[in-house]
Amino acid sequence: MDLSTRYLGLSLKSPLVMSACPLGLDLDAIRKAEECGAGAVVLPSIFQEDIENEIEEIEHLATLGDSEALSYFPTRLSDNLGPQNYLNLIRKARAAVDMPVIASLNGTSRSGWIDYAQQMEEAGASAIELNVFFLPTDLELTGIEVENRHVDILKAVKQAVSIPVSIKLSPYFSSPGAMVRTLDETGADGFVLFNRFYQPDIDLEELTLQRDLRLSHRGEIRLPLLWIAALSGKVKGSLAATSGVQSAAEVVKYLFAGADVVMTASALIRHGVGHLKVLHDGLVADLTQREASSVADIRGRLSRDKVADQTAFDRVNYIRILRGGRYIA
Ligand SMILES: Cc1cc2nc3c(=O)[nH]c(=O)nc-3n(C[C@H](O)[C@H](O)[C@H](O)COP(=O)(O)O)c2cc1C
Repeated sequence: MDLSTRYLGLSLKSPLVMSACPLGLDLDAIRKAEECGAGAVVLPSIFQEDIENEIEEIEHLATLGDSEALSYFPTRLSDNLGPQNYLNLIRKARAAVDMPVIASLNGTSRSGWIDYAQQMEEAGASAIELNVFFLPTDLELTGIEVENRHVDILKAVKQAVSIPVSIKLSPYFSSPGAMVRTLDETGADGFVLFNRFYQPDIDLEELTLQRDLRLSHRGEIRLPLLWIAALSGKVKGSLAATSGVQSAAEVVKYLFAGADVVMTASALIRHGVGHLKVLHDGLVADLTQREASSVADIRGRLSRDKVADQTAFDRVNYIRILRGGRYIA
């Protein structure tokens, strides 16, 4: 079975990708992911705030003329996601596996931290996944300003590096398709759809905000599935699906919609990295049963352009569903 795929211009032996999450801090887990059928790994994000804190601290030490402290600076960082340690993680991960290692850079405004992307490239990152996790709770901020911020950050990172750059997006744009197209024209090499937002709940006993992180469930594939199907064949950049993959069925659905790769985090945290083998074997079994000989045979076959009834994706269908009574309890 030929599971090979292209993503961000890179050749992957399989469309299964370990999504950005703490499992990527463990080299054994990365090795195991490759053994179990992953085609690439995305390391957990390094944040703009981490990088800026380090820049500030170095500048502070420099103004104090504390050359001794400066010379020890990288090793003093105990946080295993400090910027220097992150670069080491990239180096070690690249040495540990043959599959591409994608570094993840998470920031919300254009500033000095963008130079760090260059260091990621020098450390051996195969590509950069840019995550602009950003909640516009400032009520002065308009939609166009939020969109421009994405474009500006992408442009700056693209200028800083020569490796491919993908962008992980939120679904909360008034026109997600137009946003993707603009970023495609700006030079994004791929789109990771969608960022999962961690919204707080309220603890009624303690009357505090509850900030726990819920792992995903399979129903969460529907929103990315819709947009991957709508964008398939319409953009130059690759399409990566993220959210809700629990079994091979979700992987197959995302591929039918048009995804080039399918990412998974929650299922691996729940069941262990070895779960990638379950997804891999399930994908092979599904393709075999459909008499397909490769992932390419099914990719995009149910994209918006390819389905006979395009209204299934649109408003007409919405009206039909609301009136038609196909409710699932
Ligand atoms: C514990 C945990 C940590 C995560 N850390 C990151 C991160 O550092 N950067 C990032 O872009 N996404 C991060 N994510 C999001 C995942 O990469 C993924 O996009 C999201 O969980 C949806 O996929 P899933 O349904 O397979 O979990 C994290 C998710 C989890 C559960």
